[in-house]
Amino acid sequence: MPTEERTLVLLKPDAVRRRLVGTVLSRWEAKGLRLVAMELRLLDAATADRHYAEHLDQPWYPALREFITSDPLVALVLAGDQAIEVVRASIGATDGRQAAPGTIRGDLSLSNRENLVHASDSVSSAQREIAVFFPGLVANPGD
Ligand code: CDP
Ligand code: MG
Repeated sequence: MPTEERTLVLLKPDAVRRRLVGTVLSRWEAKGLRLVAMELRLLDAATADRHYAEHLDQPWYPALREFITSDPLVALVLAGDQAIEVVRASIGATDGRQAAPGTIRGDLSLSNRENLVHASDSVSSAQREIAVFFPGLVANPGD
């Protein structure tokens, strides 16, 4: 049975700076995922803190906040069958140096911070994160 899901994706400031937005997006389009929202925006610190709420106490969080607010990013919502897991698998491990070849981070990143992409890791985080970036959008229609 197909499980239609929506997931929140960020093409982080390094993706925009490195002109990799089209390259990365084209992989998901080719896979068959559907774009349901997309916006270029410069995050403020408060929105970064809401998005990364689970990481606020990490020693590396100040550096992550500095990075994620340093330049515009592209926020988007992708939809499709098991979209949450499909997109997570496509991005690879957090540290680009260890991410498997063939994944986005494995092919294009050499950093554990500037790793190009964020993607929701569960139905509940997708719901929460979609509400942070696109409050008008229903996270998973049909729920
Ligand atoms: O993004 P992902 O879910 O794979 O990793 P995470 O463990 O939830 O961490 C969120 C983000 O924090 C990562 O994608 C990195 O950009 C950043 N990070 C960092 O700056 N320094 C670390 N030591 C670990 C993660
Ligand atoms: Mg995470």
